[in-house]
Amino acid sequence: MEADKQAYTLTNNRTQTSITLPERRPVQGDPAVDISRLYREASLLTFDPGFMSTASCESKITFIDGDAGILEYRGYPIEQLAQHGNFVETAYLLLYGELPSVSELTDFTDIITHHTMLNKSLYNFFEGFHHDAHPMAIMVGVVGSLSAFYHDSLDIKNPRHRDISAHRLIAKMPTIAAACYKHNIGQPSIFPRNDLSYCANLLHMMFATPCEDYEPDPLAVEALDTLFILHADHEQNASTSTVRLAGSSQANPFACIAAGIASLWGPAHGGANEAVLNMLEEIGDPAQLDRFIAKAKDRQDHFRLMGFGHRVYKNYDPRAAIVRELCKKVLAKLGDHNNPLFELAQRLEDIALQDDYFIERKLYPNVDFYSGIIYEALGIPKNMFTVMFAIARTVGWVSHWTEMMNDPQQRIGRPRQLYTGYARRQYQPLTER
Ligand code: ACO
Repeated sequence: MEADKQAYTLTNNRTQTSITLPERRPVQGDPAVDISRLYREASLLTFDPGFMSTASCESKITFIDGDAGILEYRGYPIEQLAQHGNFVETAYLLLYGELPSVSELTDFTDIITHHTMLNKSLYNFFEGFHHDAHPMAIMVGVVGSLSAFYHDSLDIKNPRHRDISAHRLIAKMPTIAAACYKHNIGQPSIFPRNDLSYCANLLHMMFATPCEDYEPDPLAVEALDTLFILHADHEQNASTSTVRLAGSSQANPFACIAAGIASLWGPAHGGANEAVLNMLEEIGDPAQLDRFIAKAKDRQDHFRLMGFGHRVYKNYDPRAAIVRELCKKVLAKLGDHNNPLFELAQRLEDIALQDDYFIERKLYPNVDFYSGIIYEALGIPKNMFTVMFAIARTVGWVSHWTEMMNDPQQRIGRPRQLYTGYARRQYQPLTER
C-alpha cells in the first residue's frame, strides 16, 4: 500500500467539527477514503447499503478490475492459471501467497490427499436429512458440525491450528459433497481414493458404487479442475464477506465456512448456476427468447436474466469467457455437440449484448452463465452445481479467514445503521391497545 497522497476534509455541520480523512492507495485499483476515525472524531456515520462504495478490509489475495474485466490471484492473471495451473496448486497460491515449488506442491498435495476421509460418526449426520433435502442444505449442516470433531486444532490464535483447519476443510469438502449427493440418490457413500487427483477423486466418490468402479474421463477431470480454479476466489464477495464477518467474532473456521456456504446458496450469488439452467429449460425454445428478454427488462417483473450482471464487472467476466470456450470443448467430446441449451444460452447472450437495456447497465454474462452446461455434460445434477462452487470457493474462504486472523488490525466486524423506526414511546397494557 502506497503512502497516503491526498486528504479529504469533511465537516459535520451540526457540530461544526471538521476532520481530515486520509486517502489510502492500493497497489492496483481505485483509492479509498479512510473513514475509520470519522465517528470517533466527528460523530458521523457513513451510509452505504450493499457496500456499493465500501472497502471492508485490506487484502493481498485477489485483484479485480471490473471495468477492464481483469481477475488476478496473488498477481497472476486468471487466464494463465486456468491454462497452465491446476486447482491444488492454485489453492496453495491463494493460501500461502506464492506458487509452490515442486517439493512444496508434492507436500501440499500429500497433506490434502491424506485428510480426505471423514470421521465415521459424521456419516450419521447425512442420515438425519430427508432423502430429498437439497445438497446445499446438507452441506451447510455437515460442514458446521465439523467444529465438533476437531477439538485438537480449534485454537484460532495458533497459526499451526489454523493451517490444519484450512487443510482439513479443503480436503474434506469433496468427500462431504459426494456424500450429500449419494444421500440424495439413496446410494451408499464411497470412500476417497488416495491414488486419484483432487477432481478425479471427487468424480470417483460421486459416480462409483460399491458394485462398480468409475473411471473418470480425463477431459471431465480437466474441465472440473479448470472450473474449480475459476471459482476458487473472488475477493470480498457476499459469501467471503460472510466468512470474514463470522470469523471476526473469533468463531471457529468450520462454523465460519458453514456461514459462507449458506450465503453462497442464494440465487443472486453462487446459486445462480442452478438458476441459469432452470431458466434455460423454462425458456426452452429460441422463439421464446424475445419474450424472456422483455421480462428481464420489465421493472414490474421479478424475472432477471440469471448468470447475467455483476456488482464489480462492468465488462465481460473473464471467467465467463474461459467457461464458454471450455463448454465447446467438453460438449464436443462428452456431450451433445449441438447441445440445445448451449445453443440457447449463446443466442440469449448475443441478443442481450446488443440490447440497449443491457448495454447501458453494462450487464454481461458472469462465471455462472455457462458453468451449469458443463456440469450437466459431466453428469452432475442441477442441485449439485452450487455444491461444486462451494468446494472450490472453500479455498478462497479459508485464505481470507487466514489472512484476517493474521491481520493486526483485525477486530470484530460491527456495522452501524440509520435507525428509521419509532421514536421513543410508552408501553400500553394489552387491554388498552
Ligand atoms: N437481468 C436484468 N436486469 C438486471 C440484471 C439481470 N441479471 N442484473 C442487473 N440488472 C439491472 C437491475 O435491475 C438494475 O436496473 P436499474 O438501474 O434500472 O434499476 C441495474 O441492472 C443494476 O443492477 P443491480 O441489481 O443494482 O446490481 P447489483 O450489483 O446490486 O447486483 C447481481 C448484481 C446480484 C449479480 C445482479 O446483476 C443479478 O441479480 N444477476 C442475476 C443473478 C446472477 O447471475 N448472480 C451471480 C453473480 S456472480 C456470482 O456471484 C458467482
